[in-house]
Amino acid sequence: MRVPSLLPYSFSDSLAKAARLLRRSRQVVVFTGAGISAESGIPTFRDAGGLWEAFPPNQFATPEGLAEVAMASPRRLADFLTAAFGPLLAARPNPGHLAIAALEKRVNVTVITQNIDNLHTAAGSSNVHEVHGSLFRRMSDTGKVLGPISTESLAEMVAKLQDTKDVSFARLARALRPLWGITRRGSYRPTIVLFGEPLAEPDWTLARNAATTCDCFLSVGTSGEVMPAAMLPSVARSAGAPVIGINPKRGDSSVFLQGPAGTVLPNLLEAAFGESPLV
Ligand code: OAD
Repeated sequence: MRVPSLLPYSFSDSLAKAARLLRRSRQVVVFTGAGISAESGIPTFRDAGGLWEAFPPNQFATPEGLAEVAMASPRRLADFLTAAFGPLLAARPNPGHLAIAALEKRVNVTVITQNIDNLHTAAGSSNVHEVHGSLFRRMSDTGKVLGPISTESLAEMVAKLQDTKDVSFARLARALRPLWGITRRGSYRPTIVLFGEPLAEPDWTLARNAATTCDCFLSVGTSGEVMPAAMLPSVARSAGAPVIGINPKRGDSSVFLQGPAGTVLPNLLEAAFGESPLV
């Protein structure tokens, strides 16, 4: 059982402690959620004004719900896809993503992300496991991962979805061809994981292994509400790794740094290694 600390929270004490942990680590896991990309202009899911507020996940993030909305209200599905994908296509890595990429100069880093936005790779991280899949890759109905999807074709798709007020099912299906479709060889869809589906492989197996073998685990910008990904901090803790949490909302990690990732992560690297990670 973990006993809550009776001492008042001090950001600078926690920063010094987190910096010490990071400095003496060789294998670091950085586990990220939507919060890491918030400062790149991508709304989170569960914060005020988040995506799930306007588009409930039982309708817009399950295979059955999506099929039902597509038939009953293609315009509403087009609005959801525009709200969900539009900001992703315009986004660039922020100082939080860049600091995580820069950490590789000092230690072995495995990034495990729940995000589908490709921003860790764009920032330069070389070992990224996308456990909820990616918007930028398609797979066949047999689960075979197909070639990448270009940002341009997705942007064109979003422009078509925004185009008119009245969207028929047939028109929606045509606009969605870069992502979803049926060919003579079978169907294809994005690798994005929906609720009720298994997590993306081999990413999920590699992620669990990394959480078990790391000697420091950073949990950044996630509400920890969605299983099974949310169990990774406990997996790492049970295997003996300290868990450093970074989030503007208070959490219960062994060491907690309260604040936005784009400020806290560069501060942490500077405190740990004595130089700005972004130079
Ligand atoms: P949530 O929307 O549940 O949580 C976002 C977290 O980011 C919250 O804890 C915020 O406090 C925090 N946050 C907001 N701004 C931040 C900032 N600037 N810096 C750091 N943290 C910040 O998003 P996730 O935890 O990623 O899955 O949600 C997990 C999964 O639920 C998603 O991958 C998605 C969703 O449904 C599927 O759809 C399968």
